[in-house]
Amino acid sequence: DDGDPPDDDFQLINKAGDAERHDHGIPLAVLAELTHRCPLQCPYCSNPLELESASNELGTADWLRVIEELAEIGVLQIHFSGGEPTVRKDLVQLVAKATECGLYSNLITSAVMLDRAKLAALAEAGLKHVQISFQGAESGVADRVGGFRNGHAKKLAVAGWTRELDLPLTVNAVMHRQNLHQLPDIIEMAYELGAARIEVANVQYYGWALKNRQSLMPSPGQVDDCVRVVEEARARLEGQMEIDFVIPDYYALRPKQCMGGWGRQFFNISPAGKVLPCHAAETITDLRFDSVRDHSLAWIWEHSPAFNTYRGTGWMPDPCKSCEFKEVDFGGCRCQAYALTGNAGNTDPACAKSPLHADIFALAEAESLGDQNRFVYRNFSGGLEEVE
Ligand code: FES
Repeated sequence: DDGDPPDDDFQLINKAGDAERHDHGIPLAVLAELTHRCPLQCPYCSNPLELESASNELGTADWLRVIEELAEIGVLQIHFSGGEPTVRKDLVQLVAKATECGLYSNLITSAVMLDRAKLAALAEAGLKHVQISFQGAESGVADRVGGFRNGHAKKLAVAGWTRELDLPLTVNAVMHRQNLHQLPDIIEMAYELGAARIEVANVQYYGWALKNRQSLMPSPGQVDDCVRVVEEARARLEGQMEIDFVIPDYYALRPKQCMGGWGRQFFNISPAGKVLPCHAAETITDLRFDSVRDHSLAWIWEHSPAFNTYRGTGWMPDPCKSCEFKEVDFGGCRCQAYALTGNAGNTDPACAKSPLHADIFALAEAESLGDQNRFVYRNFSGGLEEVE
């Protein structure tokens, strides 16, 4: 007995009652991290410090079962991610299963391992959307940041095939001090590629990115320029390309609503089957995560202590507890609070109401003005061998 509730118990979720304890949100979307294997070596890698080996990844049969369970609990979207999800030989099969179960599937990829035939097979299996990460506007910067020769040219080719196959494209541009000067060109590149959307995604500093913060942190002047570039592009490209952008955390006044609120709408499944409230949750080393190897997804969503610890507003300390925005931003990012204060239950220092806010602004500014430009690259030492 794994302690799972009866099937119909899940139906009770989110119904009226004691909102504080029983509002478990509605699981709408999942980030399915099929693997931590990845050919790129990005210095801001968001995978956990401890990578799962290929031999510990969920197998095909497990993922097929999990996809059925996702549909059963009401999930609408599945984002196939990693690591690099295309290193899995069963990706087409998993996308086909998602389609069969009525899930909208998105591929989040570096694109460097895709060819046209593979992309066409994914489209044939019902893939609905492709998101490609870019590290710069041209190969000099982009290939240096990704630590992968000719990666940029490959990404451009795959973006072209994506549009030829009539799949909607999102460009995910990860921005930091060493490529922000290329932002106007990156936005133009995304537009020329026919992207419906570009995410101007500033590096988030937890996990591996903390090792490179001094080399990646933008200066306040760069952030101001970036805001101007985005505003101008939004006005110019209105109705043609959507531009998502949030101010880098260390320079923000209000924290971001991370993951739409902890355990409210989104969750992650790690390569080994651990169910996480966000992609970086394993950086919070005092939380314990339940696995689809031991429990049903319905049980985990409702009962897993990792989800309930920071769900809703009942866990909040002041100033969050008495803040008028507490149900807007849900206290910001737990992973950032942990990375910067050592306690994930503290107010996210990205918030101007945090006693640490002035300190992180000063720290960011000091680091951004230093002359550290070298990267500590991330690589998957386990190689890219395939496991069935
Ligand atoms: Fe984990 Fe923000 S990344 S809560």
